[in-house]
Amino acid sequence: MDRIDCFLNGRFLPPEQARIPVMDRGFLFGDGVYEVIPCYGGRLFRLAHHLRRLETSLHGIGMADPLGPERWREVLEQLIGQRPGADQSVYLQVTRGAAPARDHRIPRDVEPTVFAMASPLPAPDPRLAEHGIEAITRPDIRWGRCDIKAITLLANVMLREEATQAGAGETLLIRDGFATEGSASNLFAVRDATLLTPPTSRHLLPGITRDLVLELAAAGGLTYREAPISEQQLRTADEVWITSSTREIVPVTRLDGVAVGDGVPGPVFGRMRQLYADYKRGLQQGRGSG
Ligand code: PDD
Repeated sequence: MDRIDCFLNGRFLPPEQARIPVMDRGFLFGDGVYEVIPCYGGRLFRLAHHLRRLETSLHGIGMADPLGPERWREVLEQLIGQRPGADQSVYLQVTRGAAPARDHRIPRDVEPTVFAMASPLPAPDPRLAEHGIEAITRPDIRWGRCDIKAITLLANVMLREEATQAGAGETLLIRDGFATEGSASNLFAVRDATLLTPPTSRHLLPGITRDLVLELAAAGGLTYREAPISEQQLRTADEVWITSSTREIVPVTRLDGVAVGDGVPGPVFGRMRQLYADYKRGLQQGRGSG
């Protein structure tokens, strides 16, 4: 494959030539935020939504957006233009930059580090939608600002590793008796034919895929509600799904070794899968703004 450049601080260059200083606060403190944006058929999926969330995350850590929406679009389109028409995932990250010394205090007058890259995005394995995945539950050991898409992901990584060790595909997180989200995904449950997802709060990321699923539910006439899901309600749900930009919508058919509902993806998932596929096809064919 031809060389694929990444973007670092105003330049496009091969990843092996991209360098950041060891004093970068992203490296030393995890002091930064990120986004992951899917791109289908050369079109960035819900770019405006992702850039708004980026701005909110930056604001949450006391930073301003160093590029702004128009420049971001130019940069990201140049990156994805290197694999024309391919489905890709764009990763972008902004850190507070490199200060002269390691100091917890936030430095003034430091240039942020701005990085972005595009990678191939394989289509989800159709077997996942047919059979679902196994998930485990764990206490949510993360911090109190999970609404900020921070690069500081050690807890998420450790929680996800527990799923991997258990032969499962995701870890669902329980805080104060309520399910919040997955280690890298949002959470949906179906009970009595009603689609449920926890309301946005500081305990979960306001997922772009989550919001789209709610929009599609409304447009498709599904009954849905943003409401807290207790651990007990999760365990007795008819259906459980997870959503994310890279995994789309995945049914969870076993939870902690116990079948969810009938142990197969349910009818509400089947309907949402259809709605999502139609939406994605429209985007690939140039309908809608993403
Ligand atoms: N993560 N919750 C968490 C903790 C996440 O890390 C993610 C996505 C989501 C879903 O958000 P969205 O629908 O906007 O992708 C929810 C990305 C994919 C990642 O870290 O790679």
